[in-house]
Formats: sequence, structure tokens, C-alpha cells
Amino acid sequence: MKRFIVPIMLTFVIALPSIVLFESVDLTPVLASEQGRDIDQLLRVLFILASLIFGGVIAFLLYSVLAFRRQPGDLSDAEPIHGHMGLEITWTIIPLIVVIALGAIGADVLLNIDEAPTDRDLVVNVTGFQWAWDFEYPEYGFNSSELVLPVNRPVLFRLTSRDVNHAFFIPEFRVKMDALPGIVNEVRLTPSQIGEYRTYCAELCGTSHAYMLARVRVVDQPVFDEWVQNQQEAAAALAGQVGEGKALYDQVGCKGCHSIDGSRMTGPTFAGLYASERRFTDGSTTVADEEYLRNSILNPGAQIVEGFNNLMPANYGDQLRDEEIQALIEFIESLE
Ligand code: CUA
Repeated sequence: MKRFIVPIMLTFVIALPSIVLFESVDLTPVLASEQGRDIDQLLRVLFILASLIFGGVIAFLLYSVLAFRRQPGDLSDAEPIHGHMGLEITWTIIPLIVVIALGAIGADVLLNIDEAPTDRDLVVNVTGFQWAWDFEYPEYGFNSSELVLPVNRPVLFRLTSRDVNHAFFIPEFRVKMDALPGIVNEVRLTPSQIGEYRTYCAELCGTSHAYMLARVRVVDQPVFDEWVQNQQEAAAALAGQVGEGKALYDQVGCKGCHSIDGSRMTGPTFAGLYASERRFTDGSTTVADEEYLRNSILNPGAQIVEGFNNLMPANYGDQLRDEEIQALIEFIESLE
């Protein structure tokens, strides 16, 4: 019996420090979702069990090496062993019970997380693309590059991708889910802790995969309501400006020389112009930012795009007010 009591006690002596170490070191970031609580609990159970198994292996190994070592002067062969039915059954049954129990606990946690969505859920459509995230709030009618969530309200994330496989992951929320092209994956989470976090992409998706970060803010209801209102106003103002820009495009003559569908006319097309690289007749290049668009309207002769002639009238600065020029720029920027 002593053969078992000593290594079993040794098992706890070895396992205890690693369990204490795990409890005292923060291996995970702050917990910020209700669903994460069960997951952290499961992680704790797994770690305690792993510590015990580790302790057991090391304890029995050490004990065997020390207690059954060859005595001085003993040159005889070791006793042959012909298997041990009791031992075989024991080390089959115990791991079986452990694995089934872990499977049951894991399934229970998964079921708790996977509750059916309700009407109270805030729906956020998340689209991953190389290399950023877009968050659409269909209930409120706007898109945002920042994820803002009211605390304690369940959120139903509907995840998809515009290009390759991505994975949506906020470590503080614990749950991770793939964002795949052509598929909508759903995941439900309830933020439980006000704070600032970040989304990560957890699927290698190209050169800037590591920078696919978006700001996440969990806020209280009044702050969320205010943010929603600001976003809605900004979206409405932009839509208004783009609409005004389109009207000007039709009225003041842009339309005569610049297409908006990519087709070639006397002047360069506006489709896809914004943020594209421009090459000029003098061989220089630039990226078409707002500054470039404004200069090209006010002083069109300064930089002539390769393959075109200096034909545009230079008097739009006199004809159009600043707000009108800005509206035209917004309109051009909206033509992706
Ligand atoms: Cu998207 Cu990695």
C-alpha cells in the first residue's frame, strides 16, 4: 500500500504549486462578456486537471526510479512481467470517465453560449475584408468602423467576409468565430464590462493580417444612444452632400467629359478615382486624395493625367461656392 500512498501524496505536492501559479498569474485579459464566465470556468477545470495529471506522471516516475532502483551488488535480471488485468482496466476506465465528463461540461458551456437570439438583441452585421472590419447597425441604419456596444444588452453578430477567410475575435469576450465569404456565421454575446477593447483577426489572411484591428467600446445606454444619434446625423449629412454633389455633376458640366461608370470620355472617369494612383504627363504620380481632387477642380491645368489633354475650363473656382466644391468631392469619393 505504501507503494501507492507515497506517489499519490507526491502527486499533490507537485500539482499544487502549478495550480496556485495558474490562479495567481493573469493568463487571460479582463473578462468582459457574460458568456466568457463559463469559458473561464472551463479553462480553470482543464488546468487543474492537467496539473493533477502532470503531477501524477512525474510522481510515479520519480518514485519508481528511486524506490525500485538496483541495489548495490545485485546483478540479477529483473523479474519478467506478464501484464496486469486490473491495471489495464483502471487506466482505461479512469481516462474514459475524465474525457466523457470534460465533453459533457464543454457541451453544456457551448449550449449556454448558443442561446437562440431574441427580439431584444442588438444586431450588428460584421464584414471582414483585407484588412479592416465594417460594422453595420441595421436597426439604426448606419455603418461604422468602430464597434460600440451598450453594456448588458445581448448582441447578435452576423459575420461575413468580402474577400478571404477572416476570424472575428475580441479576447475580452472570449468567443471567436470565423468570418467567411458567402456565408453568414452568427455568434451571440452579452458585453458585461464597460471598457475599451479591440477586435483581432484570428485567421491569417494576408500581409496586413496583424493590423486588422478595430476599436471596441462597451458603454452605458445613454452614451450608446448619443453615439447612435451622432452616427445617424453624420450618415444623413454625408448622404445629403453626396446627393448635392451628384446634382452639381449633372448641372455644371462635369457630366460632359467625366463618366461615373468607368467608360472613357474626353476627361478621366470619376469611377474608382478617389484613392487611386494618378500618373501625369510629366511622368510624376500621386494618390488622389481630397487635396488632389480640389486642386483638379480649381486649377485643372496644373497636373494633366497621362493620356488626356488640357481641356477643362479653369473657372470653376469662380462659378462654385466652397460648399458646392466640397459636395462634388464627396460625390467623387463615393464612387468606389
Ligand atoms: Cu483578416 Cu487575418
